[in-house]
Amino acid sequence: MIIENKVIWITGASSGIGEALAHQAAREGAKVVISARNKEKLQTIANQISRENCLILPLDMTDKDSFQKAIDTILEKWGRIDILVNNAGVSQRATVAESGIKIIEKVMNTNFMGPAGLTSLVIPHMIRQKSGYCLFVSSIAGKFATPLRSSYAASKMALQGFSDALRAEVYEHNIRVSLIVPGFVKTSISLNSLDGEGNRRNIMDPNQARGISPEQAAIKILHCIKKEKREIYMGMVAKTYIALFLSKYFPGRLAKIMRKAEVK
Ligand SMILES: NC(=O)c1ccc[n+]([C@@H]2O[C@H](COP(=O)([O-])OP(=O)(O)OC[C@H]3O[C@@H](n4cnc5c(N)ncnc54)[C@H](OP(=O)(O)O)[C@@H]3O)[C@@H](O)[C@H]2O)c1
Repeated sequence: MIIENKVIWITGASSGIGEALAHQAAREGAKVVISARNKEKLQTIANQISRENCLILPLDMTDKDSFQKAIDTILEKWGRIDILVNNAGVSQRATVAESGIKIIEKVMNTNFMGPAGLTSLVIPHMIRQKSGYCLFVSSIAGKFATPLRSSYAASKMALQGFSDALRAEVYEHNIRVSLIVPGFVKTSISLNSLDGEGNRRNIMDPNQARGISPEQAAIKILHCIKKEKREIYMGMVAKTYIALFLSKYFPGRLAKIMRKAEVK
């Protein structure tokens, strides 16, 4: 799909990958809708993008009752939604024993229920429009799970199944679906991750600190849209490739390694 003149809605656009994607999509001539909870950050980003090509739409992915109004706001302004990038997400650094049901719900609602629910409301509009593109920003944790990220991995694995089914359902309506699988991107995702009490952990994961830049990630996502790729990986390192291989062909071996894995 060509990016120029398309209406692209990016959730989680107040920082990291989403913020960089908003800037890059605007540079390539898209009309950009930016969503997240932090209105001040969205306003700052909108001020950097030309005002007529940017719509600020504050949205909490755990508040499903607000989704339809948000969709109506975009349709009133621009009459269409061409590309939906389900990017908002929160990570976790807590064992299952430490994480109560509240953490499990928060991570699942933000990373899976929110994106799935929002997509289910946007898809009928794309079907009427006879074209569209839905992307889901998953994680390498959506391919194999590591300790301290049980709900995070579960939420991203759920996105895999959801997007695979959706892709098959909507192909005939000229709607494409892509899964984005980041390994390590240098953003605040680990700083923002939740501990067992639901507090922001505020510790930078050294793997993320060494990751690719959000700008590089944004360019890869736009390339994925242009080439209509089913799935793309980014920010991978040798150990993630090895773990991915083991998860496919030697899952028992990986399970043993994970018992002693040093995860930050
Ligand atoms: N960075 C990596 O290495 C990496 C690796 C694998 C996967 N990912 C995935 O990439 C995506 C983007 O993350 P990032 O790395 O750019 O991290 P980030 O800088 O922490 O950005 C996360 C974004 O999600 C938004 N968000 C969080 N909770 C939300 C909620 N309840 N409702 C609405 N928005 C919410 C945040 O905005 P507000 O706080 O303003 O709401 C922020 O804009 C996530 O889905 C993440 O799981 C990243």
